[in-house]
Amino acid sequence: MTGPSPTIFVIFGAGGDLTKRKLIPALYDLFLDQKLPQHFSILGLDHQGWTQDDFNKHLKENINEFSHQRKSNGKESWRSFSIFLKYLNLDFLKAESYTRLQVELKNSPKYIFYLATAPFLVENIINHLGEANLFLNKESRVVIEKPFGKDLESSSKLNETLTRLLDESQIYRIDHYLGKETVQNILALRFANSLFEPLWNRNYIDNVQITVAEEIGVENRGNYYDKSGALRDMVENHLLQLLCLIAMEPPIEFIKNEFQNKMIDVLHSIRPIAKDQVSKIAVRGQYIGYREEPRIDPNSKTETFVALKLYVDNWRWQDVPFYLRAGKKLPKQVAEISLQFRSVPHQTFPGKTHEMSVPNNLIIRIQPEESIILRFQVKRPGTHFKLQPVDMRFCYNEFFPGKFPSAYETLLLDIINGDGMLFIRSDRETAAWSILTVILDEWEKKTPSDFPNYPAGSWGPKASDDLIERDGRKWLLTSTSLEEQSACPLSQ
Ligand code: BG6
Repeated sequence: MTGPSPTIFVIFGAGGDLTKRKLIPALYDLFLDQKLPQHFSILGLDHQGWTQDDFNKHLKENINEFSHQRKSNGKESWRSFSIFLKYLNLDFLKAESYTRLQVELKNSPKYIFYLATAPFLVENIINHLGEANLFLNKESRVVIEKPFGKDLESSSKLNETLTRLLDESQIYRIDHYLGKETVQNILALRFANSLFEPLWNRNYIDNVQITVAEEIGVENRGNYYDKSGALRDMVENHLLQLLCLIAMEPPIEFIKNEFQNKMIDVLHSIRPIAKDQVSKIAVRGQYIGYREEPRIDPNSKTETFVALKLYVDNWRWQDVPFYLRAGKKLPKQVAEISLQFRSVPHQTFPGKTHEMSVPNNLIIRIQPEESIILRFQVKRPGTHFKLQPVDMRFCYNEFFPGKFPSAYETLLLDIINGDGMLFIRSDRETAAWSILTVILDEWEKKTPSDFPNYPAGSWGPKASDDLIERDGRKWLLTSTSLEEQSACPLSQ
């Protein structure tokens, strides 16, 4: 391993899902690419009662499934990586565990605490680390996974604890969507091209749609998910980040505070939702079969689907609706943002020429077929004048074949190198929760009478279609639209 300074990467929750699926595979890929610093080591903490061998074996079994470089790994690469792994059984709620940790870290100049634990443990662990003086070294960092709290009040409390014990520069609140290539490319598309910017506003754009659909259900994350739900799990973080990237003003410089300021300005501009509006702008759904999943309350009222309509009240976006949708057990795993342009102001061609005519559309496909599609009308060849929409498509994988770094590879490397640009500031959290807490409160008060209300493999409850159709629009991403678009090659 080569690079700047020695580092111990301490994972709280080393026996959990995130560690095996994301963290260790990303660190392993960085290791194989020789991007980790010299003397890097990983200290896994959990209370599974495992031995070192059990830990290594558990991680190795999963590396084959989750590492990008699984094909090139071989026993030798894993062996050289596993030398840097250490496992400790610790109870995170006991003070003596942190005395033990002090001893382990005594000779290290730099450590990163990655909290890959259940959300309710986060504040407790932070307090214990503070009491054990493990934040005194300004080179130490704490990484916190979302959800950052569960509403405005709890997130403010968590922030108070964090800022009492740490400098903001030591805190890395991670949202892995900001590490995705296609998400970062929204910045390049908007701010490294002059073509789109003049059109990127209420004069030309009729509405913006953001869909993050997952085919999978809650799998074995029932304990966490049933207390969270789709609004906290996906909208508060990933979908609002996407909205901010689409709606933000151009940053003057690509530096943390400037970038974050512009993103947070968008959140501050989102029209506050009145209590009596919640049922008009927010739809929740639960898939049939959710209540029978492992570790889910058989009477659960947790939503596995959300659709929202938001407005960004500023000069650029006044009265342009932003429709957001996220859910589990939908027909396909696909995340995309679609900017629908206004219809032409005057129909030059006679009615029957544009039976198939649709407004222009710019589609940013985040995953899985990473691409950008510009849809416009052409004349269909033939003796009659007929219009037809066609797609001009940029496929990432045709242009840049090979492996992309995963979002976690990008973000873990940033943390190791102390680059906080893509991490979330506390005021961003306050702004996001301020928007959504009213919805959470209203939902809490009213038990949904129709849950579960959508079958697995559908696009959510009917109310989600009604939400947009009431405005005379339609969701542009549908099973039919996916079938009609020629596929890009998938990334490896
Ligand atoms: C996580 C959520 O943040 O994002 C999961 O907790 C969700 O519920 C996941 O499945 C989706 O991430 P991706 O990268 O697969 O779109």
